Amino acid sequence: MDAPLYNALCALRGQKGLRMHMPGHKGKGTAAEFAAAAGLDYTEIGPTGNLYTGEGPIAAAEALAARDWGAAQAFFLTGGSTQGVLAGLSLCAGPGSRILLDRNAHRAFYSAMALLDLTPVYLDRPTAEQVSAALSKYETIQAVCITSPTYYGVIADVEEIAAVCRAHGARLLVDEAHGAHFPFVGRGSCAAARGASVSVSSAHKTLPVLGSTALLFTDGSFSPAAVREKTALFGTSSPSYLLMASIDWARAYLTEGAGGAAYRTVAAEAARLRAQINKRGVFHALCETDGLSLDPTRLTVDTGRGGLSGHQAGERLEQEYNIWPEMTDRDRVVCILTCADTAEELERLGAAFAALEQFADAAPFPPCPPPPPPQVRRSIREAVFAPRRMLSLAEAAGCISASSIAPYPPGVSVVAPGEEITREIVEYLAVVGYDVSAPVPVLDETGFVGKETL
Ligand SMILES: Cc1ncc(COP(=O)(O)O)c(C=O)c1O
Repeated sequence: MDAPLYNALCALRGQKGLRMHMPGHKGKGTAAEFAAAAGLDYTEIGPTGNLYTGEGPIAAAEALAARDWGAAQAFFLTGGSTQGVLAGLSLCAGPGSRILLDRNAHRAFYSAMALLDLTPVYLDRPTAEQVSAALSKYETIQAVCITSPTYYGVIADVEEIAAVCRAHGARLLVDEAHGAHFPFVGRGSCAAARGASVSVSSAHKTLPVLGSTALLFTDGSFSPAAVREKTALFGTSSPSYLLMASIDWARAYLTEGAGGAAYRTVAAEAARLRAQINKRGVFHALCETDGLSLDPTRLTVDTGRGGLSGHQAGERLEQEYNIWPEMTDRDRVVCILTCADTAEELERLGAAFAALEQFADAAPFPPCPPPPPPQVRRSIREAVFAPRRMLSLAEAAGCISASSIAPYPPGVSVVAPGEEITREIVEYLAVVGYDVSAPVPVLDETGFVGKETL
């Protein structure tokens, strides 16, 4: 397969050179389970190239990634989409500026806003209309951030939103953490090929790669050196070759090997599972006939509709069926299906959901939308770096949060750093299953030396 980095590392391992460089395992001295992987775990020496200068087989592998995801440029990340969000925001938004942010954003955006001292204006839904109205109102905003697809697999209209951003002279950054597989299941190129300036995909969430791997794509409007400078700013100076080679191998497997066909088969299986669940009518699997554009492989099952909470359904799946979902919330169970799942495994998943229906004899849960974002009392940066103390969430009503309060996953902030925790929010979090006895950091007002309230 044409996988330049993976092949270069395999060739180097075959030469059996004396490795007088890190990593300290020298390709051998480790637990048997890691030994094969350690053989490919190199560092920056001539034949392996360099991530941050864009040389050698890494650059060749990134060029193939750009081709296969349809972007002008692709950059490997070994710190997940979190690193990509930090780098992407620092490319798109000047420090201290205001950005337009989907409130559905992952907590990585809050880390980026704290570090770059950004102030968010929130969108409750990432639609072209909302983006257009907000950009008309806040004319100085130059960066818009949306999440597509969401954890539940819901896809936004990236092209339309990108057109609105262009018309207002703003850059669009798309958190496509859950959509790395889209080109391989007929869902088109990455968002940076569809109008966004930058998009970020967690390879490790949906591709057959090692954990922590991700890709940052651009539309070519930044110099590669500028992008590498920013990815280096938020990444280790010793990026793992094993991780980078696993992205390279998986891309080749999906385009030239059996991976693409396997992925399309799984997408068809997912459609069959959804149809079976919906035909029985006890639970509901999110599907396109709900009027949503959806990831064809994401299985999001609303068990709350049958009176069984997503958390209870998830616990039963784990304890009684040895099936481990990606996420549960009050209403839903989310399963990530990929090319690595076999037909038998998906059959087993479908049978388990069918069996769970025996516990679903209660009335559907009433809708429980999150309360509106609370009052902003401090900037995100001030709140994150201010003196703090710990209180249980139940005791924290009236305090200012020093961090994101975000049930994880999906990691979407109900309270952002610097926002006031209200009783209404504590009650909401209790209802959705958040442990309100858990400690949360709040501002220690006695030690606060920053600006007064915003
Ligand atoms: C929507 C979204 N964005 C970003 C991230 C961060 O990704 P990573 O874990 O690859 O750093 C996540 C992680 O769950 C996510 O769900």
